[in-house]
Amino acid sequence: MCGIVGFTGKHNAAPILLEGLKKLEYRGYDSAGIAVMNGSEISVDKVTGRISNLCEKTRDGGAVPGLCGIGHTRWATHGAPTEENAHPHLSNDGRFAVVHNGIIENYLALREELTEAGYRFESETDTEVIVHLIEMYYKGSMREALINTANRLHGSYALGVICSEDPGKIYAAREASPLILGVGPEENFFASDVTALVNNTRNMIYLEDGEFAELSPDAARVFDVTGQDIRKSPVRITWDVQAAEKGGYDHFMLKEIMEQPGAVKATIAPRIKDGRVFFEELSFSRPDLQNIRKIIITACGSAYHAGCAGRYALEKLCRIPVEIELASELRYSDPLIDEHTLVIVISQSGETADTIAALKECRERGAKTIAIVNVVGSTIASLADSTIYTWAGPEIAVATTKGYTTQITILYMLAVYFSSILGYIAGAEVAYTDEIQQLPSRIQQAIDLNPSAEALAKKYHRSKALFFIGRNTDYAVALEGALKMKEISYVHSEAYAAGELKHGTIALIEEKQPVIALCCNHAIMEKTLSNIVEVKSRGAKVLALTFRNNQKILSVADDLLFIPDVDAVFSAAIEIVPLQLLAYYVARENGCDIDKPKNLAKSVTVE
Ligand code: M6R
Repeated sequence: MCGIVGFTGKHNAAPILLEGLKKLEYRGYDSAGIAVMNGSEISVDKVTGRISNLCEKTRDGGAVPGLCGIGHTRWATHGAPTEENAHPHLSNDGRFAVVHNGIIENYLALREELTEAGYRFESETDTEVIVHLIEMYYKGSMREALINTANRLHGSYALGVICSEDPGKIYAAREASPLILGVGPEENFFASDVTALVNNTRNMIYLEDGEFAELSPDAARVFDVTGQDIRKSPVRITWDVQAAEKGGYDHFMLKEIMEQPGAVKATIAPRIKDGRVFFEELSFSRPDLQNIRKIIITACGSAYHAGCAGRYALEKLCRIPVEIELASELRYSDPLIDEHTLVIVISQSGETADTIAALKECRERGAKTIAIVNVVGSTIASLADSTIYTWAGPEIAVATTKGYTTQITILYMLAVYFSSILGYIAGAEVAYTDEIQQLPSRIQQAIDLNPSAEALAKKYHRSKALFFIGRNTDYAVALEGALKMKEISYVHSEAYAAGELKHGTIALIEEKQPVIALCCNHAIMEKTLSNIVEVKSRGAKVLALTFRNNQKILSVADDLLFIPDVDAVFSAAIEIVPLQLLAYYVARENGCDIDKPKNLAKSVTVE
């Protein structure tokens, strides 16, 4: 999705803006631009395609003097990815420039009104109405113009604005789209993402919905819709800059796959006390939990798949029914939710528009809500009754890996924690806690056991379609394995519950059709084995994912990926790892842009 940056200080703004935009590239974009103020002159440079084009056009920013400015990467929604539609947008009189993330839902009505009032539109975007509104409302005070403009907008926005009559200042506003201020000595910044700021400062102020900011080199002021200043103290970011760099790997995705043992350890460590799982973020008593009639897990994409996998542990250990709902479906489904429902929303970014809407819907219906989120200070984190951070560190590759495994880890831990409060696992609590503490080393083994993933990718990368099959937790992991494969390698991949094959899908099996069979659950191994035999007898080539010494599968599969032995309740976080590696290497064989797959964005902030 779009990204914005802003800078004001004592250095040339353009190179700093370009560096910030590069850090936002992972979010996905198709055009970019900057506006820099030099004295009272605003100059705008825009390009289609990559930031490198903008660097070339501005000679790495050197050709654009000025000490403050704003920048943008655009992921086209309203209007094609052209220079005209790229941000920043200028007002007709050239005094104001605006960058915007989000969607202005009432832009057509505003456009009509502004056109009648004589404003000329240069683009097809919804954003352009904002800059004309600011020009219309400006009577000498930018605060006033910004507030009056915001009052006219319906939808979501993170805005960055400069005004030639206010040299040295950059303005910002937030409504349902992330925006963070970076506070430094004699310089201040804003950006839609901490990763664009962390090279310059560790001190962040998270803007909330309805808040505005006025930044000069010496001050970062936040104000509300009445124009009154709000006191907000900066929060210090603790992860280091290298966490957001590739660190010698060819791609962020591979680095993040390899980081999973450490990330999962960071998820677990603060939540084990005296050998037991404990969440200080939560305050559920036994009667509170007994009062819950069902749990709904809602999320999108991989976070939804994490819910599908974690459900088994929650149901098995807590004996509470768990429903999994896609957030984009739940919000329009008139869901049966009340004060006896516990809703768990899952989101790596904490900014996914559908998940935010589903969370709001559930809260309105009286549910108790827990958010499992990675990005600190994100919208979902601030909306839920309780937030559990996954502590996975920054995830840059669009395809999530450590985000997913840490989400499942939290679900496992919640299952043990709730079950312990409910008094269901007295004798087994230590053993379950031990299983959880072993996850990081087992994930490491799942990496180490599969050096063959690279060679297998060479064998399978030309396939037209890949079918992933499995039962129970294996099926949940198959869903995520297929998503990983399709989103980065563009090979058509689908997951099927193995028992469902004979109800239709088996018609697609023909000679040499690759089938990736997940068999990591001892209790139902024989069942999956018969499904493998069914597809093999119709000519399929089977790549099985199973335990190292699983002789039954070894003898029927054509190729193998391995995991270490693990209880099926906790296996999903381990099983996915070889599939992530396979997807990565297939995508590499296919020459794909692995960290920035086409048409995708890291954080989907529009519906
Ligand atoms: O930030 P979120 O976890 O809310 O994102 C949800 C999905 O957009 C995300 O998981 C998406 O499916 C990724 N491309 C998966 O790799």
